[in-house]
Amino acid sequence: MRILALESSCDETAAAVVEDGRTVLSNIVASQVEEHRLYGGVVPEIASRRHCEAVAGVTREALSQAGMTLSEVDAIAVTYAPGLIGALLVGVSFAKGLALAAKKPLIPVHHLRGHIAANYITTPDLTPPFLCLVVSGGHSHIIEVQDYTHLRVLGRTRDDAAGEAFDKAARAMGMPYPGGVELDRVAEGGDDRAFSLPRPSVDGAPYDFSFSGLKTAVINLLHNASQKGQTLSVPDLSASYRRAVVECLVKNFVRAAKDTGAKTLVIAGGVSANSLLRRSLEAECAANGWRFCRPDLSLCGDNAAMIGSQAYYEYQAGNLASTALNACASMEIAASGPEDF
Ligand code: KG4
Ligand code: ZN
Repeated sequence: MRILALESSCDETAAAVVEDGRTVLSNIVASQVEEHRLYGGVVPEIASRRHCEAVAGVTREALSQAGMTLSEVDAIAVTYAPGLIGALLVGVSFAKGLALAAKKPLIPVHHLRGHIAANYITTPDLTPPFLCLVVSGGHSHIIEVQDYTHLRVLGRTRDDAAGEAFDKAARAMGMPYPGGVELDRVAEGGDDRAFSLPRPSVDGAPYDFSFSGLKTAVINLLHNASQKGQTLSVPDLSASYRRAVVECLVKNFVRAAKDTGAKTLVIAGGVSANSLLRRSLEAECAANGWRFCRPDLSLCGDNAAMIGSQAYYEYQAGNLASTALNACASMEIAASGPEDF
């Protein structure tokens, strides 16, 4: 089954053709990041406008690189939640138009389920059940993936998402948006014990995260230093901060794995590209005899191939939408579909 998938939940307009959930025939991403960088973050209105301009061309390119016409695909899939509402609406409206015109089934896909599915492409023999740490710019969850479409949230962030925490600290250190990638790179050359930073936890909720205090601790260090006319070593601060964030993520994830008896640990979302997170979990999994899976670096950030992968399993579970499908800015990953909203 060949699915044409669209993704437009944030600042990437993406289209892909994926066969049977695992084989990527094309994967096109048009990023708006350069434009949003001018403002230090994503400007929702600009994102919507750029999606409108890009969506048709990106879709045409995805079909052309897959060597297919619209009539040859078996279904159309689209990210319908969660994300920026105006941005989501562009993809949803376009996908509905395609499905109606070409008389194809329409498959609604939850963005975070898509991030998890990036692993089905990278690791073709990975199948549920497994435990997944989903860490993106807007979400940080520990999820029990019971099967492809049944998921249970064990833990979540109480405030900032991991990606947001990286981006905000990076911005305070003068790095351009989105700072998470740059902070990761700069941290490689720093001393991760140069600054002592807190490791926040949530009382009575061992799988939940809290990053806002950690982020504020870094911002305070920078302010105090600048008031005294001092400059701090950015590589050392980046390395110390990255270690603190990653230790919080790994500690709760490992605890959840031990408590639930998981055998396979998986990471997903933009922050799953973080080099220390990948190294740390690789080591933890080796030490505990768990299998460790992570997406190829090219599939960690937002893309449509991951949406096409998850769509295959949503289709098999009978999760289809009519042309009444609407976009939703927020939706639980465990919700069974648009009608749950
Ligand atoms: O999943 P994603 O592409 O978009 C959302 O669904 O939010 O995640 C983007 C986030 C940004 O916050 C970005 O800074 C972060 O992922 N990110 C990283 C790295 N690469 C991307 N954070 C830390 N280390 C990285 N190497
Ligand atoms: Zn994402």
